[in-house]
Amino acid sequence: MSGHGVPVIGVLISGRGSNLQALIDAARDGRLAARIGVVISNVPEAAGLARAEAAGIETLVLPHQTAAGRAEYDVSLVDALRARGVSLVCLAGFMRVLGAGFCAAFPHAVLNIHPSLLPAFPGTHAPRQALAHGVRVSGATVHFVTPELDAGPIVIQGTVPVLDDDTEETLAARILEVEHRIYPEAVSRVLSGGWRIEGRRVVG
Ligand code: GRF
Repeated sequence: MSGHGVPVIGVLISGRGSNLQALIDAARDGRLAARIGVVISNVPEAAGLARAEAAGIETLVLPHQTAAGRAEYDVSLVDALRARGVSLVCLAGFMRVLGAGFCAAFPHAVLNIHPSLLPAFPGTHAPRQALAHGVRVSGATVHFVTPELDAGPIVIQGTVPVLDDDTEETLAARILEVEHRIYPEAVSRVLSGGWRIEGRRVVG
């Protein structure tokens, strides 16, 4: 269905889309042997939509408010992704929790990037949580998505130091650089295969 024999990725966003851009760049320069087939946003104003359009990628806005409930919304996402031959879904700042039905539709084929070293600081404002807790090291995590928020098996993590004079903004910016490096790496690793999940561990 990809038409080119390469795997088709679907990226889900809600905002700025800098991780989407990192994936676009990686696919363009050959670090990622995949095609981004569609970018879907639940927020019509998401700046990331323009990044996709600039790269010639199909965009779709699916506002969650129009769905009767979470399950119905998830079905509309699954339908849109399947219709485009997507085999791997990448959440990139997608601010909606996906339910068990969505995860079951793409088994071990939904990834998320989170700005902390999970399992520390799940949920929103992770850099703020890390600063408030006083950790000396933080970073980013790419993990498989399960119905439990920010809790699925970990593919890659990258670390950054937390500096004495950090603010939420400076720490988040340092983490974001790591995100942009490890997300394409993690997607590439998952697409290359040769791994398996043992308990919570991604090995191989
Ligand atoms: C990133 O910090 C990501 O880790 C988190 O949401 C933010 C999205 O940023 N899940 P962007 O839209 O990719 O720029």
